[in-house]
Amino acid sequence: MIKQESHNPTGSIKDRTAVGLLAEIDRQSPLVPGSVIVESTSGNLGLALARLARLLDCHFIAVIDEKTPHPTRESLVASGVELQFVDEPDGQGGYLLSRLKAIRELCRQHAGHRWTNQYQNDANPRIHQETTGPEIARQGGADMDAVYVAVSTGGTLAGISAHLRTVRPDVRIVAVDATGSLVTGSTGGERLIAGLGASRASTFLTGTSYDTTTQIGAASTVAACRMFLQDTGIALGGSSGSVLCGYLGDLGRGRHPRRALCVCPDGGGKYVGTVFDDAWLDAVDIAGDVKHLVDAFRDNGLRFRLG
Ligand SMILES: Cc1ncc(COP(=O)(O)O)c(C=O)c1O
Repeated sequence: MIKQESHNPTGSIKDRTAVGLLAEIDRQSPLVPGSVIVESTSGNLGLALARLARLLDCHFIAVIDEKTPHPTRESLVASGVELQFVDEPDGQGGYLLSRLKAIRELCRQHAGHRWTNQYQNDANPRIHQETTGPEIARQGGADMDAVYVAVSTGGTLAGISAHLRTVRPDVRIVAVDATGSLVTGSTGGERLIAGLGASRASTFLTGTSYDTTTQIGAASTVAACRMFLQDTGIALGGSSGSVLCGYLGDLGRGRHPRRALCVCPDGGGKYVGTVFDDAWLDAVDIAGDVKHLVDAFRDNGLRFRLG
């Protein structure tokens, strides 16, 4: 089964994270109208923080990079967010380290700026321990035996795991990472899918947070998103496609969970210019691989179905 987090107010699982982070910095020192919030984001957390900053009458500066999908950038601007664009690759296949450098510089220049710091703030995993984890335990049902979760900061997985390890220690937890990510991998490399993986290890994940990890390449991710759309009419985001691949990979290895739950962090709308765009597949040189993978999956009889 899939748990679709696209139904949250700004369309992703990061609506939860944003609530947790802002509540925590507000607890440390109250946010007031005019407070300036800063965060490094690949997009989804930016949209979620933008909504809450607006409700709180705060100003929000989002530090983004070229991987941030264009529809997300446009939505951020429309929400009144100030964008700071980082274009210096960090040497680890992404821009995260450059974005963090830019945030530190901003905070150094403006001592009053409030950094939610999703990579280090324990409120990130805590909100998932308090909300996402209990929902999964309930919605997955008594026969759920495996959960697949995408990782970037690792906050979602760490929180879900902290809850499930307590109430459902029988459930196998799989971390789904990107090929070339250093969250669970050891060699950095170029990554094409926004939101999944990172150029650094997670502060939140420990040796017991997950049972196994799998690293998914962009072509497999795109193949899964496109097959899911063809079969169900539902467009999932890139990292959700990766999560489905994690599950399919287990089937390929002869591991058949009785009932698996795949956490799908966002929907496909933001990915019309990437995952769902043939010209982008040509530009990043994965069109042939995607076609080959879709053909192979279909030859093996793979079909997704609802209900
Ligand atoms: C689309 C998408 N998938 C997965 C994740 C990973 O979540 P986390 O940072 O909690 O590990 C994110 C986080 O930004 C995301 O935006």
